[in-house]
Formats: sequence, structure tokens, C-alpha cells
Amino acid sequence: MRVLAIESSCDESAAAVLDSDRGLLAHELFSQIELHRVFGGVVPELASRDHVRRLLPLVRNVLESSGTAPRGLAGVAYTAGPGLIGALLTGAALARSLAYAWRVPAIGIHHLEGHLLAPLLEADPPPFPHVALLVSGGHTLLIEAREIGRYELLGETRDDAAGEAFDKTAKLLGLPYPGGPQLARLAGSGRAGAFTFPRPMLDRPGLEFSFSGLKTAVLHAVRAREMSDGVKADVACAVQEAIVETLAVKALRALEQTGLDVLVVSGGVSANQRLRARLAEVVRHRGARVYYPRTEFCTDNAAMIAVAGLARLASGQHDGLAPSGLAPSGLAHTASAHGGLPIEARAQWPLQTLPPLA
Ligand SMILES: Nc1ncnc2c1ncn2[C@@H]1O[C@H](COP(=O)(O)OP(=O)(O)OP(=O)(O)O)[C@@H](O)[C@H]1O
Ligand SMILES: [Mg+2]
Repeated sequence: MRVLAIESSCDESAAAVLDSDRGLLAHELFSQIELHRVFGGVVPELASRDHVRRLLPLVRNVLESSGTAPRGLAGVAYTAGPGLIGALLTGAALARSLAYAWRVPAIGIHHLEGHLLAPLLEADPPPFPHVALLVSGGHTLLIEAREIGRYELLGETRDDAAGEAFDKTAKLLGLPYPGGPQLARLAGSGRAGAFTFPRPMLDRPGLEFSFSGLKTAVLHAVRAREMSDGVKADVACAVQEAIVETLAVKALRALEQTGLDVLVVSGGVSANQRLRARLAEVVRHRGARVYYPRTEFCTDNAAMIAVAGLARLASGQHDGLAPSGLAPSGLAHTASAHGGLPIEARAQWPLQTLPPLA
């Protein structure tokens, strides 16, 4: 089985071709970072318009470089949510139109299921069941993943996501957008212990997170003194330590609570080297193992959407030509071309409501 996948949930346009026997045959990505940099964050309308420009050439490229003809496809997978609704609709409209023209099924994929399954693309994929720590720009979740499609939420953030905490504190330090990787780089030259920021919710039981207080703590530290490059690096180091330590303690707690010995970490923040080093210590101590996606598949990409798409198509799931399972919620945005081809996407979409594989 071979699947074409399209990702357009935020500020990356991406396409990929995955084959069940031969693996990942092609993947391409266009990042809109330059487009949004002057605004200091993603401008949704600009993101949607740029996806319209970028997606079709990316699809052409991956089909060509993988030697794939449309008749060789078992289906077209696309990110149906959660994300920016206009951006999602561009990918959904393209995917469903191509599938309709090629007479193959389309399947709307949950973006976070894509992140969760990205490590399955590696040579040594993680086994199920496992504890998944999903740390991205919009989400911080601890999940018990029993198998593909069966996800139980163990804990999540009450406010900012871990990636958002990196980005917002980086902004306070005057680092350019997107700040997470920049802050991580600066932290490398900071002195550990020069500042200490709160590690919220570590002192109480449970698997919830809260990162919004970190912004205030950093703001006070920045306002209180002259910010030389050295002091900025010290602050960056302390921010990274606060986030990393919080994630590590809660991940360990989730392993203990579930009795599982496999931890899978994905999403943009899983690229963070300090987090990887700290989690290596934690799992070694417990006799557990930790798995990651390769660095380029930590952040948004279409290869991970292809993994989820292939699994779901192989189990017989697809959108169909009638409004699919996405439709009943009032949160679903639907556009119907000539009354016949429903195009659906969801800005919000709880992961636990996904159907299991057949
Ligand atoms: N090395 C790093 N250290 C810390 N944070 C990082 C690093 N690399 C990327 N990030 C952060 O990862 C986030 C982007 O990740 P990702 O693309 O998975 O998120 P998203 O798609 O915007 O959010 P979501 O998947 O929740 O919708 C940003 O917040 C970015 O700052
Ligand atoms: Mg993402």
C-alpha cells in the first residue's frame, strides 16, 4: 500500500509518500518562518494563502521523486485538525479534490496522532503499549498509547504548552521568532544555577502541567537588571532547566503510574538536546527505554501524517464521499463543492475521540 500525505495545520506546508513495504519514499516541506517573522508569530490568514501557493508543487515533487502515479495510491491522507482552521481547509480541500479526481479514498488525520506515530518511521520503532510525552508548540500531553488509535490521556497542561513557554520566554529575551530553538542554543552558554525559575506542579501529585508562571518569573528577572549577553544566556539556561526538569519528573511519574517501561517523546520540543539528555538519565535509572522521531520529524511534517494515514487506510477507514465521522460536532467546518464533495477540518479535536483501528 502506498499513501500520499499532506500537512498544513499551521505554518509548514508539507507532502510525503509512504509505502508499506518500501518505507518513506519522499517527503518535502516548505516552512513559512520567514513570512511570519516580522510579525513575531504566525498570522493565520497569511499562512492559509501561502499553503494554497505551496502545497500543489510539493505534492507534484513527492509523487515525481518517489516514482508514484496516482493509480498506484491506496489513498490520500491529510491533516484534518487540530490547527488553524483556514490552513487546515487548504490541505483538506486539496487532498479531498485529488482523491476524488483519482478515485481513491481520502482520510482526515489527527495532527497529534501524526506526532505520536512519527517515531514509527525509525529503524528501531517503539513497541506498544507505551507512555507518550507529546511536547509541541500547542500541546503538552502525557498519554498512555495502548496501540495505534487507542490513546488514554494521563495529563496535560492547564495553560501554556512547553513549546509555547520556550517561545514566549525567548521573546522576553529579545530572541527572534521562533524562539524555542534559539533559546536552547543560548542556554548552552549559560551558567547553571545563576537563576532558578519555578517548576510548577512538581510539588503535588498528578500529571498536569502549568507553564504560564514561567513568563512572569522571567519578566521580573529581565526587568530587575541590565541584560548583558552573559545574563541572557544564564536566564535561558534556567528557563530550559525549569521546563526540562518538569517534563522529566512528570514523564517518570507516568511510567511509574502505568507500570510501563517504554517512553516515546515527540513534537517540536522533543528536538531539545538537554531534554533528551535528562530523559536518558531518568529512563536508565528505571531500566526503561526512550524513543524519539529523527530531529526533522520532531516538528510538523507530512511523513508522520502518512504513517497515521497508512495505518488507518490499511484497517479500512476513510472519509467516504458522504460527510465523515468528523461532521457531527459543531466545531467541524465544512465546505461542499457543488453539494457533492464535503471538505472538513476541525480547529479543536480531542485525541481521545479518535476511533480505534478495526
Ligand atoms: N530545540 C528546541 N528546543 C526547545 N523547543 C523547540 C526546539 N525545537 C523546536 N522547539 C519548539 O517546538 C515548537 C514547534 O513544534 P511543533 O511544530 O511540533 O508544534 P506545532 O505544530 O506548532 O504545535 P501543535 O503540534 O501542538 O499544533 C515551537 O514551540 C518551538 O519553539
Ligand atoms: Mg505540530
